[in-house]
Amino acid sequence: MKIYEQTAELLRNQILEQQLRPGDPLPSIRELSSRLSIGRNSVIHAYMMLEDEQLIEPRPRSGYYVRARPLSPNPGTALEPRKVQLGATALEIIGAAQNAQLVPLGSADPDARCSGREFFYRRLSRHARDIAAAPGGNSHYVAPPGLNALRAQLARRLHSASLPAGADDIVITNGAQEAITLALLALARPGDTIAVESPCFYGTLQCIEALGMRALEIPGHPQLGMDMEALAQALSRWQVKAILTNPSFNNPTGACMPTAARHRLLRLACEHDLPVIEDDVFGELCHQGSRPPPLKALDTEGRVLLCSSLSKTLDSDIRIGWIMPGRYYEQVNYLKYVTTLASPGILQHAAADFLADNRYERHLRQVRRRYQARLGLLLEAIYQYWPGCALPLIPKGGFLCWVELPPGFDSDRLYRAAQQAGIGITPGSLFASDGRFSHCIRLNYSTFEATPYYLQAIEALGDLIREQL
Ligand SMILES: Cc1ncc(COP(=O)(O)O)c(C=O)c1O
Repeated sequence: MKIYEQTAELLRNQILEQQLRPGDPLPSIRELSSRLSIGRNSVIHAYMMLEDEQLIEPRPRSGYYVRARPLSPNPGTALEPRKVQLGATALEIIGAAQNAQLVPLGSADPDARCSGREFFYRRLSRHARDIAAAPGGNSHYVAPPGLNALRAQLARRLHSASLPAGADDIVITNGAQEAITLALLALARPGDTIAVESPCFYGTLQCIEALGMRALEIPGHPQLGMDMEALAQALSRWQVKAILTNPSFNNPTGACMPTAARHRLLRLACEHDLPVIEDDVFGELCHQGSRPPPLKALDTEGRVLLCSSLSKTLDSDIRIGWIMPGRYYEQVNYLKYVTTLASPGILQHAAADFLADNRYERHLRQVRRRYQARLGLLLEAIYQYWPGCALPLIPKGGFLCWVELPPGFDSDRLYRAAQQAGIGITPGSLFASDGRFSHCIRLNYSTFEATPYYLQAIEALGDLIREQL
């Protein structure tokens, strides 16, 4: 065994035997190299190895720390299909995003100050002017599957994500939420079970709730997403109608499923002859490098229904989404027609123009860099102002940060106290059917800056957390 491997082994054992616990700092590189009388490069190599194994993580300007343990259901929580009853808090959080008095760390909205968004709205107003100036004639619906020019632009973009798609493979929807609803309606009936990762975006859970279906919550790993072993076991035990996953920069954990796990998921879907609903709303927002391959790009059997939108990349208010339903195209297209008839044509025209311009690429490059920098600022503020037991997960994309607090912590109480203090956050209780993540919170850092406005909010949250501990 090489020296760095021996060093990694020593630390690995200490972590696995809990002599070093989640959140504990590791010795600095200099300190460990002199303590073990080995070169600094060996320590660096060992730390890189443990980082690859997801056991430790670097924190900006602060060194290495033991990672939070994988998210798992509370001991004693059986893995079984459950009814979802989340109540009205989620709607309250989305509504609170309109309250300019609240520091916006709650609802998952992107940064509105960006040139791409401005460009989109200029295109939209041009279309509105053209319509106002056009002489008479009947108004009409842009019937499903939606505007051909927009579908062609989306297909072009999907090609660059290694997904050979044509305009005829896509149906335009009102945001990804409608795409997911249509997929569920096409695939399952009230009382049926849908396998989702846990924690799971509350909008998805509420959709399952509203359709009278049940959620089978498969534990998720903080970096790797849905646990494939747990999924395999659950599928052999329960009758499931579909697997629903948000594999790229998951809401809320930021987890990104590795390509090998994506292949395994598709193999499992094939073995059990199941459709897979892929929620890809954050897929384009990798902080560095290229975007992860959508499951749909690896699907050779048409069993993946890819759902996405412009809500996270551009603006939640545009309400342009799409679904690529594969072999379920006919059902989904028909359901789009019977449920909402059509999506607004003017928005589809503006979105088609917008996507045809290479400004969207520039816009994406800008926001990806911005979100990566803002994550660094948020983490620094958390490390400075919050107690050491607060363990933020570090996403590689998107703009959401999931923070684990000690078991028993009441994030609903923190949510209410934060509201009173003028700060929006999202309590972890919303991300499971049984409140098993009540000790976690989700923060949106899409607009976060190291300004007194935000830093004071993080400091105040730190005080509220301490009061409760
Ligand atoms: C993971 C995830 N899926 C779907 C949606 C809904 O997206 P849209 O606004 O496009 O309907 C959201 C919104 O927060 C989300 O976070």
